Amino acid sequence: MSALQKYVDEVVKDFTISKEKLNECVDYFVEQTREGLRANDVKSLPMIPTFVTDVPNGKEKGTFLAVDLGGTNFRVCSVNLLGNSDFTITQEKWAVPRTIMRGSSADFYKFMADHIGKFLTKHHSDKLEGPKIKMGFTFSFPVVQTSLNRGKLLRWTKGFNIPDAVGTDICECLQKELDKQNLPVHVAALVNDTVGTLMARSYGKSGNAHTLIGCIFGTGTNGAYREKISNIPKFDAAAHPEITSDMMVINTEWGSFDNALKHIPANRFDVDLNERTPNPGFHMFEKRVSGMFLGELLRLVILEMYKKNLLSAIKSVPEDAKLFQDWSADSAITAAIDGDSTSNYATTGYMLRDAFGLLATPEEREAIHRVARAIGDRSAALAAVPIAGLILHTKAFERVDTIDIGGDGSVVEFYPEFEKRVRDALRKTALGSKEANISFGISKDGSGVGAALCALVAEDPEDA
Ligand code: BGC
Repeated sequence: MSALQKYVDEVVKDFTISKEKLNECVDYFVEQTREGLRANDVKSLPMIPTFVTDVPNGKEKGTFLAVDLGGTNFRVCSVNLLGNSDFTITQEKWAVPRTIMRGSSADFYKFMADHIGKFLTKHHSDKLEGPKIKMGFTFSFPVVQTSLNRGKLLRWTKGFNIPDAVGTDICECLQKELDKQNLPVHVAALVNDTVGTLMARSYGKSGNAHTLIGCIFGTGTNGAYREKISNIPKFDAAAHPEITSDMMVINTEWGSFDNALKHIPANRFDVDLNERTPNPGFHMFEKRVSGMFLGELLRLVILEMYKKNLLSAIKSVPEDAKLFQDWSADSAITAAIDGDSTSNYATTGYMLRDAFGLLATPEEREAIHRVARAIGDRSAALAAVPIAGLILHTKAFERVDTIDIGGDGSVVEFYPEFEKRVRDALRKTALGSKEANISFGISKDGSGVGAALCALVAEDPEDA
């Protein structure tokens, strides 16, 4: 066996999750779910009550604004809910410049309000003088909410870092900037993208009362689900007489599962990657699962191969090659190499050349394909952990035959066979053959329709 094959065998082992490990993680997730519902602790699962107490049934109607900030783009849309599970949408999006992602909060809020103003001027100029329009704000970061449209930012994730916004009320600050710019908009609801996904899936699947989880596997990862208020000891129901429902959607922020690394795996590549993120020690689960990290993990392995002189056939790599640049590898590269079924791994060869400046032999391409596959397998196996964990925690299969899940994000949509691989892992958990009774659908536009649905249930600005 060649030194390269031996090395790859070991790396693949480092990324492999055994059935025992998987179930150990699921058990710990269930335990952490209960713990997070009981009390807030800085390193535990946030389990944030969202103040969203009803999921829609598809009959909702009306026009609402929705804005979405959570990754590389800022999107503004107006959503017209037609009341028959359908909707129309007008939208525009802009890239969020790095100077805004890592700048001051004043510039951040101004950036958003400026674009909301541009959108209204272009598409709804008739509304610029009228009463305030209700807007749902999809903000896909951990926010500890105190009402539907109040809440303080816990921390940044996914490469954002605007230090003076941490601990402040995101909706209040955006509202101030909108008011300053005289824009007739009321920030009616703060919506995590997973909550929006859950709402949009419930709206689109009218009549199906069992949509339990909304989840995102994209740049980041997270899930929201429906919980009985009586199961949330840390939520002071008496302080909120306005809430009459007995259920509430919980934003788990499962990206922060096991930040203390008691059970989730941590190999040397994970350790290295974590140290170079703006949030070291936090969102440790996310750093093994979501799109922002799958490219970087592969780059780190290839870099180590290169440094160990295992890639003998690789011609000298220029000093400025992307191989040597942190975060230069997109998860689409890992996805393409993982899913490569061309002869002699030709696709892998092109990807390595274009993405990293490497010319690799067929043997080396196969080796790197195996690494990408191991990274993808681990991501999907870990993705099964919170899904199985929430289904077991809620004991949902004791009440219904079929559980529905709505999902969104580039990984679940485009990573090769992601859903199939998650299902393979789910069958290895205590759910076993019940996996077949889980329906899953991509719920496009949670951040538009879902946010509009949250704005709909919010109080009118006059009463707010
Ligand atoms: C954020 C979550 C979000 C998820 C998916 C995570 O980094 O903390 O709030 O739902 O990404 O966008």
